[in-house]
Amino acid sequence: MGAGAHGRVTSCTLPTMSDAFDALGLPIWPAAERNKQPIAEVLVPLLANREGVFLEIASGTGQHIVHFAGLLPRFTFVPSDCDPEHLDTLRRRVEATALPNLNAPLAIDVTWESWPIAGADVVYNANMMHIAPLEAARGLFRGASRVLPSGGLLVTYGPYRFSGKHVSESNERFDASLRSRNPDWGVRDVDDLETFAREHGLVLGDRIAMPANNFTLVWTKA
Ligand SMILES: C[S@@+](CC[C@H](N)C(=O)[O-])C[C@H]1O[C@@H](n2cnc3c(N)ncnc32)[C@H](O)[C@@H]1O
Repeated sequence: MGAGAHGRVTSCTLPTMSDAFDALGLPIWPAAERNKQPIAEVLVPLLANREGVFLEIASGTGQHIVHFAGLLPRFTFVPSDCDPEHLDTLRRRVEATALPNLNAPLAIDVTWESWPIAGADVVYNANMMHIAPLEAARGLFRGASRVLPSGGLLVTYGPYRFSGKHVSESNERFDASLRSRNPDWGVRDVDDLETFAREHGLVLGDRIAMPANNFTLVWTKA
C-alpha cells in the first residue's frame, strides 16, 4: 500500500512471482505466456473495425500488450501499472520491443479519481480484479467510463463467479487461497461488476469462455 500521486491510498500490491526471464533479464510470467494468444484470438476479430488508443490497466510485465501491439497495428498501445518495479520492467520492455505503435508506460493506480490520459478507445484489464481489493474493480469501471467515448470498449479477462457460483472446483479453491492470503482479494462476481458498470454507464455484452476456466468479458460504454 502506498499514497498515490493523486493523494489517495492505493490498492497496488506487487506480486513478485517471476522465476523466468527473457534475454534482457526482464521477467516472464508463465501464465501470461500461456494466455496471451487465446486472448489475442478474441481481441483481433473484436477490434477488426476499430482503431485508436488501447489503454491497458495493470500491465504487469507487459507480455500481453507487446503481443497485442504486434497484431493490431491500427491501435496505439499504452501500458500502465501502479507498481514502480512493474513500470520499470514495462519501460525496458517497450524500449527493447521498439514497436512504432507501443508507447511508454503510464503510472496509473486504477483507484485514482482521474487517470493521466486524455482518452482511450479501448480499455483492457487482465488478472487484476481478483488480486486487489474490490475498490480496484470499482475504480476500473469508474475510470474506464471517464476515458472511453460512447461506444468504446472495456475488455476484462480473468476468473469470475456468476451469481455467486464458481465455474469450476479449481476456481473455488483458487478463490479460497486468494482470500487466505489477503481477505480483501478474491474471484469477483460478475453481478457485482455489473452493478459497478451500471453506476458508470457500461453494459456487459459478450462473455467468452477461455482456457483454464477464465473468461473474457466485453463491456460497452453506453
Ligand atoms: C497478476 S498481475 C497481472 C498482470 C497482467 N495484466 C497479466 O495478466 O499478466 C496483477 C497486476 O495488477 C496490478 N495492480 C494491482 N493493484 C492495482 C491498482 N490499484 N492499480 C493498477 N494496477 C494494479 C499489479 O501491479 C500487477 O501488475
